[in-house]
Amino acid sequence: MDRPKILVTHRLFEEPRAKLAEHFEVEFWSDSDRPPRAEVLRRVADKDGLICLLTEKIDDELLAAAPRLRSVANIAVGYDNIDLDACTRRNVAVTNTPGVLDETTADFAWALLMAVARRLIEGDALARSGEWKGWNLDQLCGADVWGKTLGLLGFGRIGRAVARRAGGFGMRVIYNDAVRAPREIEVQLNAEYGERDDVLKEADFLSVHVPLLPDTRGLIGPRELALMKPTAFLINTSRGPVVQEAALISALEQRQIAGAALDVFEREPQIGHGLLRPNVVLAPHLASASLETRTRMAMMAADNTIAFFEGHQPPNILNPAVWKK
Ligand code: DGY
Repeated sequence: MDRPKILVTHRLFEEPRAKLAEHFEVEFWSDSDRPPRAEVLRRVADKDGLICLLTEKIDDELLAAAPRLRSVANIAVGYDNIDLDACTRRNVAVTNTPGVLDETTADFAWALLMAVARRLIEGDALARSGEWKGWNLDQLCGADVWGKTLGLLGFGRIGRAVARRAGGFGMRVIYNDAVRAPREIEVQLNAEYGERDDVLKEADFLSVHVPLLPDTRGLIGPRELALMKPTAFLINTSRGPVVQEAALISALEQRQIAGAALDVFEREPQIGHGLLRPNVVLAPHLASASLETRTRMAMMAADNTIAFFEGHQPPNILNPAVWKK
């Protein structure tokens, strides 16, 4: 019997690559740049399965170009790049990679938080510049982290992993989420539930961990930024469009907040010029980028695809209705 044909829009890592080759006739996109849209549309035309990154838009146009397609495995936990309803309408199963990147992403949110609070990037630049004239009392003084209030918008797996780390810094943790966490989780993580506006008002560090949904698009805008303390920092490792970039730039210009540390942007890979300021730490969407975690994510996408074509419900299916049919 012919093996299913799979398009993988990245060359992946050795382990998932070898595993996929055992099960499928696989075509990998091997350039280091992301494939142009036209190329994805052309290559997916005769494929049964697709393994893609969050940079690929899986919409009606792509589905129409791929009449045989039955499975899409996103190598990301966020799936705002995928029109899930369109996939469900066409009986295409969609999977993502939850769970395996939580701790790595939480580590990175903390790396950003520490870097912006303690002016690490400015310090690194000075140390490398040859201009450093030695220790000085008021040199690059930042803000303390220990003992401050960490505000979390979104208290799912990643938000909770960020909260857990705050214990080591003796911080107060206050969170808001559409669904309040069970009491035992709040006790375990020493986290208080608060109304969203209260979290915005009370946080010294506000870290965002919500998925991008119609309800969360533009969640942080002029009103929310105005509620924040002038000494507070905003950290975003969720999705760029959750924060209104123009409003953030204006809040930074007007010193409504003290700074920001951003891993995600409204129109990636473009970064608003107004964000190129010393009190903003920028990263190119790296929060899950440890070799171990990215390998686990790719393996998970491979396993979801293998399960689907072996006739088992993929462990991370997002539209189980398709499977039940
Ligand atoms: C995701 O998984 O959604 C991240 O943004 C990339 O790891």
